[in-house]
Amino acid sequence: MRSLLAFVLLATTSLALAGPCDIYASGGTPCVAAHSTTRALFSSFNGSLYQVKRGSDGATLNIGPLSAGGVANAAAQDSFCAHTTCVITTIFDQSGHNNHLTQAPPGGFQGPESNGFDNLASATGAPVTLNGSKAYGVFISPGTGYRNNAATGTAKGDAAQGMYAVLDGTHFNGACCFDYGNAETSSRDTGNGHMEAIYFGTETTWGTGSGNGPWIMADLENGLFSGVNVKQNTGDQTINDRFVTAVVKGQPNNWAIRGGNAASGSLTTFFNGPRPNASGYNPMSKEGAIILGIGGDNSNGAQGTFYEGVMTSGFPSDATENSVQANIVAAKYATTSLTSGPALNVGSHVSLRATTACCTTRFISHQGSTVNTQVVSSSNTTTVKQQASWVVRTGLGNSACVSFESVDTPGSFLRHFNFQLMLNANDGSKLFGEDATFCPQAGLNGQGNSINSWSFPTRFFRHFNNQLFIASNGGVHDFDSATLFNDDVSFVISSGFA
Ligand SMILES: *[C@@H]1O[C@H](CO)[C@@H](O)[C@H](O)[C@H]1NC(C)=O
Ligand SMILES: *[C@@H]1O[C@H](CO)[C@@H](O)[C@H](O)[C@H]1NC(C)=O
Ligand SMILES: *[C@@H]1O[C@H](CO)[C@@H](O)[C@H](O)[C@H]1NC(C)=O
Ligand SMILES: *[C@@H]1O[C@H](CO)[C@@H](O)[C@H](O)[C@H]1NC(C)=O
Repeated sequence: MRSLLAFVLLATTSLALAGPCDIYASGGTPCVAAHSTTRALFSSFNGSLYQVKRGSDGATLNIGPLSAGGVANAAAQDSFCAHTTCVITTIFDQSGHNNHLTQAPPGGFQGPESNGFDNLASATGAPVTLNGSKAYGVFISPGTGYRNNAATGTAKGDAAQGMYAVLDGTHFNGACCFDYGNAETSSRDTGNGHMEAIYFGTETTWGTGSGNGPWIMADLENGLFSGVNVKQNTGDQTINDRFVTAVVKGQPNNWAIRGGNAASGSLTTFFNGPRPNASGYNPMSKEGAIILGIGGDNSNGAQGTFYEGVMTSGFPSDATENSVQANIVAAKYATTSLTSGPALNVGSHVSLRATTACCTTRFISHQGSTVNTQVVSSSNTTTVKQQASWVVRTGLGNSACVSFESVDTPGSFLRHFNFQLMLNANDGSKLFGEDATFCPQAGLNGQGNSINSWSFPTRFFRHFNNQLFIASNGGVHDFDSATLFNDDVSFVISSGFA
Protein backbone atom coordinates (compact mmCIF):
# COMPACT_ATOMS: atom_id res chain seq x y z
CA MET A 1 0.00 0.00 0.00
CA ARG A 2 2.74 2.40 0.99
CA SER A 3 4.72 1.75 -2.16
CA LEU A 4 1.57 2.18 -4.25
CA LEU A 5 0.95 5.52 -2.58
CA ALA A 6 4.57 6.50 -3.13
CA PHE A 7 4.26 5.52 -6.79
CA VAL A 8 1.09 7.58 -7.20
CA LEU A 9 2.74 10.56 -5.51
CA LEU A 10 5.84 10.22 -7.65
CA ALA A 11 3.81 9.89 -10.82
CA THR A 12 1.68 12.90 -9.91
CA THR A 13 4.75 14.94 -8.96
CA SER A 14 6.66 14.13 -12.11
CA LEU A 15 3.61 14.90 -14.24
CA ALA A 16 3.08 18.20 -12.47
CA LEU A 17 6.71 19.15 -12.88
CA ALA A 18 7.28 17.90 -16.44
CA GLY A 19 9.03 20.54 -18.54
CA PRO A 20 8.40 21.30 -22.21
CA CYS A 21 11.29 19.04 -23.24
CA ASP A 22 10.00 16.15 -21.11
CA ILE A 23 6.72 16.52 -23.01
CA TYR A 24 8.44 16.59 -26.42
CA ALA A 25 10.47 13.50 -25.41
CA SER A 26 7.34 11.57 -24.45
CA GLY A 27 5.89 12.55 -27.83
CA GLY A 28 8.87 10.94 -29.59
CA THR A 29 10.28 14.29 -30.77
CA PRO A 30 13.02 15.15 -28.26
CA CYS A 31 14.53 18.60 -27.83
CA VAL A 32 17.91 18.94 -29.55
CA ALA A 33 18.25 22.55 -28.42
CA ALA A 34 16.54 24.15 -25.42
CA HIS A 35 17.17 27.80 -24.59
CA SER A 36 15.71 29.90 -21.82
CA THR A 37 16.90 32.62 -19.49
CA THR A 38 13.71 32.31 -17.44
CA ARG A 39 13.36 28.66 -16.45
CA ALA A 40 14.52 25.10 -16.83
CA LEU A 41 12.84 23.33 -19.76
CA PHE A 42 13.43 19.80 -18.39
CA SER A 43 12.05 18.88 -14.96
CA SER A 44 15.49 17.56 -13.94
CA PHE A 45 17.59 20.41 -15.33
CA ASN A 46 19.70 22.09 -12.69
CA GLY A 47 22.64 23.35 -14.77
CA SER A 48 23.34 26.86 -16.03
CA LEU A 49 20.60 28.62 -17.98
CA TYR A 50 22.65 31.62 -19.10
CA GLN A 51 25.75 33.65 -18.37
CA VAL A 52 25.95 37.37 -17.62
CA LYS A 53 28.98 39.65 -17.83
CA ARG A 54 29.16 42.83 -15.82
CA GLY A 55 30.55 46.18 -16.94
CA SER A 56 32.48 47.09 -13.80
CA ASP A 57 35.20 44.42 -14.08
CA GLY A 58 34.22 42.11 -16.96
CA ALA A 59 33.53 39.23 -14.55
CA THR A 60 30.98 36.61 -15.57
CA LEU A 61 28.42 34.60 -13.62
CA ASN A 62 26.37 31.61 -14.69
CA ILE A 63 22.72 31.73 -13.64
CA GLY A 64 20.90 28.48 -12.91
CA PRO A 65 17.40 27.66 -11.77
CA LEU A 66 16.37 28.18 -8.13
CA SER A 67 15.89 24.41 -7.98
CA ALA A 68 16.02 21.62 -10.55
CA GLY A 69 13.35 22.27 -13.17
CA GLY A 70 12.59 25.69 -11.69
CA VAL A 71 12.63 29.39 -12.47
CA ALA A 72 15.95 31.22 -13.00
CA ASN A 73 17.75 32.62 -9.98
CA ALA A 74 17.30 36.29 -10.91
CA ALA A 75 18.35 37.38 -7.42
CA ALA A 76 21.86 36.00 -8.08
CA GLN A 77 22.04 38.17 -11.20
CA ASP A 78 20.68 41.23 -9.38
CA SER A 79 23.28 41.00 -6.68
CA PHE A 80 26.14 40.33 -9.14
CA CYS A 81 25.07 43.27 -11.34
CA ALA A 82 24.33 45.76 -8.55
CA HIS A 83 25.67 49.27 -9.30
CA THR A 84 26.90 48.28 -12.74
CA THR A 85 25.55 47.04 -16.09
CA CYS A 86 25.24 43.43 -17.23
CA VAL A 87 24.82 41.79 -20.62
CA ILE A 88 23.88 38.22 -21.52
CA THR A 89 26.92 36.52 -23.05
CA THR A 90 25.61 32.95 -23.39
CA ILE A 91 22.24 31.24 -23.44
CA PHE A 92 23.08 27.66 -22.59
CA ASP A 93 21.51 24.68 -24.32
CA GLN A 94 19.71 22.54 -21.76
CA SER A 95 19.31 19.56 -24.12
CA GLY A 96 22.78 18.13 -23.58
CA HIS A 97 23.85 18.85 -27.18
CA ASN A 98 25.99 21.85 -26.20
CA ASN A 99 24.05 23.99 -28.68
CA HIS A 100 24.74 27.16 -26.71
CA LEU A 101 23.94 30.56 -28.18
CA THR A 102 26.63 33.24 -28.06
CA GLN A 103 27.32 36.63 -29.67
CA ALA A 104 26.53 36.35 -33.39
CA PRO A 105 29.55 36.77 -35.70
CA PRO A 106 29.57 38.93 -38.83
CA GLY A 107 27.92 37.38 -41.88
CA GLY A 108 26.34 38.71 -45.05
CA PHE A 109 25.57 41.68 -42.83
CA GLN A 110 28.03 43.07 -40.31
CA GLY A 111 27.11 43.63 -36.70
CA PRO A 112 27.63 46.99 -34.97
CA GLU A 113 30.58 45.90 -32.81
CA SER A 114 34.02 47.00 -34.00
CA ASN A 115 34.77 43.40 -35.02
CA GLY A 116 31.50 43.08 -36.97
CA PHE A 117 29.85 40.94 -34.30
CA ASP A 118 26.32 41.76 -33.16
CA ASN A 119 25.65 43.35 -29.80
CA LEU A 120 24.82 41.37 -26.70
CA ALA A 121 21.48 41.93 -24.97
CA SER A 122 21.10 43.73 -21.67
CA ALA A 123 20.58 41.25 -18.84
CA THR A 124 17.85 43.47 -17.39
CA GLY A 125 15.88 44.64 -20.46
CA ALA A 126 13.01 42.17 -20.15
CA PRO A 127 12.05 41.54 -16.51
CA VAL A 128 9.02 39.28 -15.93
CA THR A 129 7.68 36.97 -13.29
CA LEU A 130 6.95 33.25 -13.65
CA ASN A 131 4.46 32.09 -11.06
CA GLY A 132 5.42 35.18 -9.05
CA SER A 133 9.17 34.57 -9.22
CA LYS A 134 11.29 37.20 -11.01
CA ALA A 135 13.24 36.30 -14.14
CA TYR A 136 14.71 38.08 -17.15
CA GLY A 137 14.08 37.50 -20.85
CA VAL A 138 16.37 38.42 -23.75
CA PHE A 139 15.49 41.90 -25.08
CA ILE A 140 16.76 42.10 -28.67
CA SER A 141 17.32 45.67 -29.90
CA PRO A 142 18.26 46.27 -33.54
CA GLY A 143 21.91 45.18 -33.90
CA THR A 144 21.65 42.45 -31.25
CA GLY A 145 21.97 38.75 -32.09
CA TYR A 146 22.99 35.29 -30.88
CA ARG A 147 24.05 32.31 -32.94
CA ASN A 148 25.59 28.83 -32.99
CA ASN A 149 27.06 27.85 -36.38
CA ALA A 150 28.36 24.49 -35.10
CA ALA A 151 25.17 23.06 -33.63
CA THR A 152 24.78 19.29 -33.48
CA GLY A 153 21.66 17.16 -33.62
CA THR A 154 19.53 19.83 -35.30
CA ALA A 155 17.66 19.07 -38.53
CA LYS A 156 19.68 19.10 -41.76
CA GLY A 157 18.48 18.87 -45.35
CA ASP A 158 14.82 17.90 -45.50
CA ALA A 159 14.82 16.30 -42.03
CA ALA A 160 11.84 17.03 -39.80
CA GLN A 161 11.96 19.45 -36.90
CA GLY A 162 9.68 21.35 -34.54
CA MET A 163 10.23 24.66 -32.77
CA TYR A 164 8.45 26.90 -30.34
CA ALA A 165 9.38 30.18 -28.74
CA VAL A 166 7.75 32.33 -26.07
CA LEU A 167 8.01 35.98 -27.13
CA ASP A 168 6.76 39.44 -26.16
CA GLY A 169 3.91 40.05 -28.61
CA THR A 170 4.15 43.82 -28.08
CA HIS A 171 7.86 44.13 -28.95
CA PHE A 172 8.49 43.89 -32.69
CA ASN A 173 9.22 45.94 -35.78
CA GLY A 174 9.08 45.62 -39.57
CA ALA A 175 12.79 45.06 -40.15
CA CYS A 176 14.49 41.79 -41.00
CA CYS A 177 14.45 39.53 -39.03
CA PHE A 178 13.55 38.63 -35.47
CA ASP A 179 14.02 34.87 -35.83
CA TYR A 180 14.62 31.82 -33.66
CA GLY A 181 15.54 28.52 -35.24
CA ASN A 182 17.43 26.71 -37.98
CA ALA A 183 19.75 28.72 -40.28
CA GLU A 184 22.91 28.69 -42.39
CA THR A 185 26.19 27.64 -40.80
CA SER A 186 28.06 30.33 -42.82
CA SER A 187 26.00 33.33 -41.58
CA ARG A 188 25.32 33.95 -45.28
CA ASP A 189 22.33 33.56 -47.59
CA THR A 190 23.04 30.26 -49.33
CA GLY A 191 19.67 30.06 -51.05
CA ASN A 192 16.02 29.13 -50.80
CA GLY A 193 15.21 26.47 -48.25
CA HIS A 194 18.48 26.78 -46.32
CA MET A 195 16.63 28.00 -43.22
CA GLU A 196 13.58 27.03 -41.22
CA ALA A 197 13.09 29.44 -38.34
CA ILE A 198 10.27 31.12 -36.45
CA TYR A 199 9.86 34.78 -37.49
CA PHE A 200 7.85 37.33 -35.46
CA GLY A 201 7.10 40.91 -36.55
CA THR A 202 5.60 43.14 -39.23
CA GLU A 203 8.06 42.74 -42.12
CA THR A 204 5.81 42.78 -45.24
CA THR A 205 8.28 42.35 -48.12
CA TRP A 206 7.42 38.65 -48.44
CA GLY A 207 4.43 37.18 -46.58
CA THR A 208 1.72 38.87 -44.52
CA GLY A 209 -1.28 37.68 -42.55
CA SER A 210 -4.59 39.27 -41.58
CA GLY A 211 -4.76 42.60 -39.75
CA ASN A 212 -1.79 44.90 -39.17
CA GLY A 213 0.48 42.31 -37.55
CA PRO A 214 2.67 41.30 -35.90
CA TRP A 215 2.51 37.83 -37.39
CA ILE A 216 4.25 34.54 -36.78
CA MET A 217 5.79 33.44 -40.07
CA ALA A 218 8.41 30.93 -41.19
CA ASP A 219 11.76 32.26 -42.37
CA LEU A 220 12.70 29.68 -45.02
CA GLU A 221 15.39 31.99 -46.54
CA ASN A 222 14.64 34.55 -49.21
CA GLY A 223 11.14 34.62 -47.90
CA LEU A 224 9.04 34.99 -44.76
CA PHE A 225 6.12 32.64 -45.37
CA SER A 226 2.67 33.08 -43.79
CA GLY A 227 1.29 30.26 -45.95
CA VAL A 228 1.98 28.75 -49.31
CA ASN A 229 2.13 30.24 -52.83
CA VAL A 230 0.29 33.39 -51.73
CA LYS A 231 1.73 36.59 -50.33
CA GLN A 232 -1.10 36.98 -47.84
CA ASN A 233 -2.50 34.09 -45.85
CA THR A 234 -5.48 35.63 -44.04
CA GLY A 235 -5.49 32.57 -41.80
CA ASP A 236 -2.24 33.83 -40.28
CA GLN A 237 -3.77 36.11 -37.68
CA THR A 238 -2.27 39.17 -36.06
CA ILE A 239 -1.07 38.00 -32.65
CA ASN A 240 0.01 40.63 -30.16
CA ASP A 241 -0.68 39.22 -26.72
CA ARG A 242 1.88 40.39 -24.18
CA PHE A 243 3.20 36.81 -24.09
CA VAL A 244 2.98 34.83 -27.33
CA THR A 245 3.72 31.16 -28.02
CA ALA A 246 4.98 30.85 -31.61
CA VAL A 247 5.31 27.46 -33.31
CA VAL A 248 6.82 26.52 -36.68
CA LYS A 249 7.48 22.92 -37.72
CA GLY A 250 8.45 21.18 -40.93
CA GLN A 251 8.83 17.74 -42.46
CA PRO A 252 9.11 16.56 -46.07
CA ASN A 253 6.61 18.59 -48.14
CA ASN A 254 4.66 19.68 -45.08
CA TRP A 255 5.03 22.52 -42.64
CA ALA A 256 2.89 24.44 -40.18
CA ILE A 257 2.55 27.69 -38.24
CA ARG A 258 0.74 27.67 -34.89
CA GLY A 259 0.40 30.29 -32.18
CA GLY A 260 -1.41 31.36 -29.07
CA ASN A 261 -1.41 33.45 -25.93
CA ALA A 262 1.41 32.12 -23.74
CA ALA A 263 -0.45 33.17 -20.61
CA SER A 264 -3.78 31.45 -21.29
CA GLY A 265 -5.71 29.25 -23.67
CA SER A 266 -4.61 27.01 -26.46
CA LEU A 267 -2.76 27.08 -29.76
CA THR A 268 -4.42 27.88 -33.08
CA THR A 269 -3.12 26.45 -36.36
CA PHE A 270 -2.55 29.38 -38.73
CA PHE A 271 -1.23 27.24 -41.58
CA ASN A 272 -0.61 23.55 -42.24
CA GLY A 273 0.17 22.49 -45.79
CA PRO A 274 2.77 21.76 -48.45
CA ARG A 275 6.06 23.48 -49.10
CA PRO A 276 6.16 26.60 -51.31
CA ASN A 277 6.34 25.68 -54.98
CA ALA A 278 9.20 28.11 -55.77
CA SER A 279 12.43 26.27 -56.43
CA GLY A 280 14.55 25.28 -53.45
CA TYR A 281 11.87 24.77 -50.80
CA ASN A 282 10.96 21.16 -51.60
CA PRO A 283 13.03 19.40 -50.55
CA MET A 284 14.50 21.76 -47.99
CA SER A 285 18.26 22.21 -47.49
CA LYS A 286 18.35 23.06 -43.79
CA GLU A 287 21.88 23.59 -42.50
CA GLY A 288 21.28 23.20 -38.76
CA ALA A 289 22.86 26.35 -37.30
CA ILE A 290 20.79 28.16 -34.66
CA ILE A 291 19.94 31.88 -34.66
CA LEU A 292 18.21 34.20 -32.22
CA GLY A 293 17.17 37.76 -33.05
CA ILE A 294 18.67 37.91 -36.56
CA GLY A 295 18.21 36.54 -40.06
CA GLY A 296 20.23 33.71 -41.57
CA ASP A 297 22.64 36.17 -43.21
CA ASN A 298 22.94 38.12 -39.94
CA SER A 299 20.40 40.78 -41.01
CA ASN A 300 20.09 42.56 -37.69
CA GLY A 301 17.56 45.37 -38.02
CA ALA A 302 14.77 43.68 -36.09
CA GLN A 303 13.68 43.80 -32.46
CA GLY A 304 11.79 41.47 -30.18
CA THR A 305 11.96 39.68 -26.84
CA PHE A 306 12.69 35.98 -26.33
CA TYR A 307 11.93 34.13 -23.08
CA GLU A 308 12.28 30.46 -23.98
CA GLY A 309 12.34 28.19 -27.01
CA VAL A 310 13.36 24.79 -28.29
CA MET A 311 14.15 22.89 -31.44
CA THR A 312 13.22 19.23 -31.73
CA SER A 313 14.27 16.24 -33.74
CA GLY A 314 11.21 14.99 -35.62
CA PHE A 315 7.87 16.64 -36.42
CA PRO A 316 5.93 17.09 -33.15
CA SER A 317 2.27 16.20 -33.16
CA ASP A 318 -0.28 18.94 -32.53
CA ALA A 319 -1.21 17.06 -29.35
CA THR A 320 2.38 17.24 -28.07
CA GLU A 321 2.51 20.96 -28.81
CA ASN A 322 -0.82 21.45 -27.08
CA SER A 323 0.63 19.87 -23.94
CA VAL A 324 3.68 22.13 -24.22
CA GLN A 325 1.34 25.14 -24.49
CA ALA A 326 -0.45 23.99 -21.32
CA ASN A 327 2.94 23.75 -19.61
CA ILE A 328 3.83 27.29 -20.72
CA VAL A 329 0.51 28.64 -19.44
CA ALA A 330 1.09 26.84 -16.13
CA ALA A 331 4.49 28.55 -15.84
CA LYS A 332 2.45 31.76 -15.37
CA TYR A 333 4.37 34.41 -17.24
CA ALA A 334 3.39 37.90 -16.06
CA THR A 335 4.70 41.44 -16.30
CA THR A 336 6.57 43.22 -13.54
CA SER A 337 7.88 46.74 -12.97
CA LEU A 338 10.32 48.12 -15.57
CA THR A 339 11.54 50.89 -13.27
CA SER A 340 13.37 51.24 -9.97
CA GLY A 341 14.84 53.99 -7.81
CA PRO A 342 13.13 57.27 -6.89
CA ALA A 343 9.69 57.38 -8.56
CA LEU A 344 8.91 59.88 -11.32
CA ASN A 345 5.29 60.90 -11.11
CA VAL A 346 3.43 61.30 -14.38
CA GLY A 347 2.35 64.94 -14.78
CA SER A 348 5.08 66.33 -12.54
CA HIS A 349 7.66 68.86 -13.76
CA VAL A 350 11.25 67.77 -13.22
CA SER A 351 14.82 68.89 -13.76
CA LEU A 352 17.71 66.43 -14.04
CA ARG A 353 21.05 67.33 -12.46
CA ALA A 354 24.34 65.66 -13.38
CA THR A 355 26.22 63.95 -10.54
CA THR A 356 29.73 63.62 -12.04
CA ALA A 357 32.18 65.70 -9.97
CA CYS A 358 32.88 68.01 -12.93
CA CYS A 359 29.30 68.93 -13.44
CA THR A 360 27.11 68.95 -10.35
CA THR A 361 25.56 72.35 -11.18
CA ARG A 362 24.62 71.26 -14.72
CA PHE A 363 21.11 70.17 -15.75
CA ILE A 364 19.76 68.44 -18.86
CA SER A 365 18.63 71.31 -21.06
CA HIS A 366 17.81 72.08 -24.68
CA GLN A 367 18.26 74.84 -27.24
CA GLY A 368 15.96 74.01 -30.10
CA SER A 369 16.43 70.32 -30.90
CA THR A 370 19.92 70.20 -29.34
CA VAL A 371 20.05 68.55 -25.91
CA ASN A 372 22.97 69.26 -23.60
CA THR A 373 23.78 70.23 -20.03
CA GLN A 374 23.73 73.83 -18.80
CA VAL A 375 24.54 75.47 -15.49
CA VAL A 376 21.13 76.41 -14.13
CA SER A 377 19.89 77.72 -10.80
CA SER A 378 16.75 79.41 -9.52
CA SER A 379 18.27 82.82 -10.32
CA ASN A 380 18.44 82.18 -14.10
CA THR A 381 15.90 83.64 -16.50
CA THR A 382 12.55 81.96 -17.04
CA THR A 383 13.70 80.99 -20.55
CA VAL A 384 16.75 79.16 -19.19
CA LYS A 385 14.74 77.51 -16.43
CA GLN A 386 12.10 76.30 -18.87
CA GLN A 387 14.78 74.90 -21.17
CA ALA A 388 15.92 72.73 -18.25
CA SER A 389 12.44 71.56 -17.21
CA TRP A 390 10.45 68.55 -18.38
CA VAL A 391 6.96 67.21 -17.87
CA VAL A 392 6.92 63.51 -17.01
CA ARG A 393 4.48 61.72 -19.31
CA THR A 394 3.34 58.12 -19.56
CA GLY A 395 5.83 56.40 -21.87
CA LEU A 396 4.77 56.96 -25.50
CA GLY A 397 6.08 53.53 -26.51
CA ASN A 398 5.41 51.60 -23.30
CA SER A 399 3.06 52.77 -20.57
CA ALA A 400 5.17 51.07 -17.88
CA CYS A 401 7.91 53.67 -18.47
CA VAL A 402 7.97 57.44 -19.05
CA SER A 403 8.60 60.10 -21.68
CA PHE A 404 9.91 63.63 -21.08
CA GLU A 405 7.97 66.48 -22.73
CA SER A 406 9.57 69.90 -23.03
CA VAL A 407 8.02 72.57 -20.78
CA ASP A 408 8.65 75.37 -23.31
CA THR A 409 7.88 73.32 -26.45
CA PRO A 410 4.74 71.29 -25.75
CA GLY A 411 4.39 68.27 -28.02
CA SER A 412 8.16 67.84 -28.25
CA PHE A 413 9.88 65.06 -26.35
CA LEU A 414 13.36 63.87 -25.53
CA ARG A 415 14.14 61.05 -27.94
CA HIS A 416 17.26 59.24 -29.10
CA PHE A 417 18.36 59.34 -32.72
CA ASN A 418 21.63 57.66 -33.73
CA PHE A 419 22.16 57.29 -29.96
CA GLN A 420 22.17 61.07 -29.48
CA LEU A 421 19.46 62.66 -27.35
CA MET A 422 17.39 65.27 -29.22
CA LEU A 423 14.21 67.27 -28.66
CA ASN A 424 11.76 66.54 -31.49
CA ALA A 425 8.03 66.97 -32.11
CA ASN A 426 6.11 63.76 -31.59
CA ASP A 427 5.12 62.57 -35.08
CA GLY A 428 2.88 59.88 -33.61
CA SER A 429 4.87 57.04 -35.14
CA LYS A 430 5.64 53.77 -33.37
CA LEU A 431 9.36 54.47 -33.82
CA PHE A 432 9.15 57.95 -32.30
CA GLY A 433 7.22 56.64 -29.31
CA GLU A 434 9.79 53.92 -28.70
CA ASP A 435 12.72 56.33 -29.18
CA ALA A 436 11.11 58.64 -26.60
CA THR A 437 10.43 55.99 -23.94
CA PHE A 438 12.72 55.63 -20.96
CA CYS A 439 12.62 53.43 -17.87
CA PRO A 440 14.25 55.16 -14.86
CA GLN A 441 16.34 52.88 -12.64
CA ALA A 442 18.06 53.47 -9.32
CA GLY A 443 21.15 55.58 -10.10
CA LEU A 444 24.14 53.36 -10.94
CA ASN A 445 26.42 55.49 -8.73
CA GLY A 446 23.94 55.40 -5.87
CA GLN A 447 22.52 58.86 -6.56
CA GLY A 448 19.15 59.64 -8.14
CA ASN A 449 18.18 57.74 -11.28
CA SER A 450 19.84 56.25 -14.32
CA ILE A 451 17.49 56.73 -17.27
CA ASN A 452 17.36 53.54 -19.30
CA SER A 453 16.31 53.58 -22.96
CA TRP A 454 13.32 51.26 -23.34
CA SER A 455 14.22 50.24 -26.91
CA PHE A 456 17.99 49.92 -26.26
CA PRO A 457 18.16 48.79 -22.63
CA THR A 458 21.96 48.46 -22.66
CA ARG A 459 21.89 52.29 -22.98
CA PHE A 460 21.26 55.14 -20.52
CA PHE A 461 21.04 58.96 -20.65
CA ARG A 462 24.65 60.10 -20.45
CA HIS A 463 26.26 63.51 -20.49
CA PHE A 464 29.58 63.46 -22.36
CA ASN A 465 31.39 66.72 -23.14
CA ASN A 466 28.13 68.33 -21.96
CA GLN A 467 26.17 66.71 -24.78
CA LEU A 468 23.49 64.09 -24.15
CA PHE A 469 23.58 60.55 -25.55
CA ILE A 470 22.15 57.17 -24.80
CA ALA A 471 25.33 55.29 -23.96
CA SER A 472 26.28 51.70 -23.28
CA ASN A 473 29.01 50.82 -20.81
CA GLY A 474 32.24 50.36 -22.78
CA GLY A 475 30.60 50.24 -26.23
CA VAL A 476 32.14 51.23 -29.56
CA HIS A 477 31.40 54.99 -29.56
CA ASP A 478 33.54 57.53 -27.70
CA PHE A 479 30.45 58.47 -25.67
CA ASP A 480 30.21 54.81 -24.54
CA SER A 481 33.51 55.12 -22.64
CA ALA A 482 33.63 53.05 -19.45
CA THR A 483 35.49 55.88 -17.71
CA LEU A 484 33.13 57.66 -15.28
CA PHE A 485 30.21 55.71 -16.80
CA ASN A 486 28.29 55.24 -13.54
CA ASP A 487 28.60 58.93 -12.62
CA ASP A 488 27.81 60.21 -16.13
CA VAL A 489 24.59 58.16 -16.29
CA SER A 490 23.31 59.09 -12.82
CA PHE A 491 21.07 62.16 -12.46
CA VAL A 492 19.40 63.61 -9.40
CA ILE A 493 15.82 64.38 -10.41
CA SER A 494 14.18 67.23 -8.54
CA SER A 495 11.06 69.24 -8.99
CA GLY A 496 11.38 71.31 -12.16
CA PHE A 497 12.81 74.86 -12.30
CA ALA A 498 9.71 75.75 -14.30
C1 LIG B 1 21.97 18.45 -10.22
O1 LIG B 1 21.50 17.19 -10.64
C2 LIG B 1 22.49 16.18 -10.58
C3 LIG B 1 21.93 14.93 -11.23
O2 LIG B 1 20.63 14.69 -10.76
C4 LIG B 1 22.89 15.98 -9.12
O3 LIG B 1 23.89 15.00 -9.02
C5 LIG B 1 23.42 17.30 -8.57
O4 LIG B 1 23.68 17.20 -7.20
C6 LIG B 1 22.43 18.42 -8.79
N1 LIG B 1 23.06 19.69 -8.47
C7 LIG B 1 22.42 20.65 -7.84
C8 LIG B 1 23.22 21.90 -7.61
O5 LIG B 1 21.27 20.55 -7.45
C1 LIG C 1 3.46 28.26 -8.20
O1 LIG C 1 3.73 28.70 -6.91
C2 LIG C 1 2.89 28.10 -5.95
C3 LIG C 1 3.12 28.80 -4.63
O2 LIG C 1 4.44 29.20 -4.45
C4 LIG C 1 3.18 26.62 -5.92
O3 LIG C 1 2.36 26.00 -4.98
C5 LIG C 1 2.90 26.04 -7.29
O4 LIG C 1 3.26 24.67 -7.32
C6 LIG C 1 3.71 26.78 -8.34
N1 LIG C 1 3.29 26.33 -9.65
C7 LIG C 1 4.17 25.89 -10.56
C8 LIG C 1 3.61 25.47 -11.88
O5 LIG C 1 5.36 25.83 -10.34
C1 LIG D 1 3.00 28.30 -57.56
O1 LIG D 1 1.63 28.39 -57.20
C2 LIG D 1 1.01 29.61 -57.60
C3 LIG D 1 -0.39 29.64 -57.00
O2 LIG D 1 -1.06 28.47 -57.27
C4 LIG D 1 1.04 29.75 -59.11
O3 LIG D 1 0.46 30.98 -59.48
C5 LIG D 1 2.48 29.69 -59.57
O4 LIG D 1 2.53 29.71 -60.98
C6 LIG D 1 3.17 28.44 -59.07
N1 LIG D 1 4.60 28.52 -59.37
C7 LIG D 1 5.29 27.48 -59.84
C8 LIG D 1 6.76 27.72 -60.03
O5 LIG D 1 4.80 26.40 -60.04
C1 LIG E 1 22.51 80.73 -15.24
O1 LIG E 1 23.03 81.73 -14.40
C2 LIG E 1 24.40 81.56 -14.07
C3 LIG E 1 24.77 82.63 -13.04
O2 LIG E 1 24.46 83.89 -13.53
C4 LIG E 1 25.22 81.66 -15.34
O3 LIG E 1 26.59 81.43 -15.05
C5 LIG E 1 24.75 80.59 -16.30
O4 LIG E 1 25.43 80.69 -17.53
C6 LIG E 1 23.26 80.73 -16.56
N1 LIG E 1 22.81 79.61 -17.38
C7 LIG E 1 22.44 79.73 -18.66
C8 LIG E 1 22.07 78.48 -19.37
O5 LIG E 1 22.42 80.80 -19.24
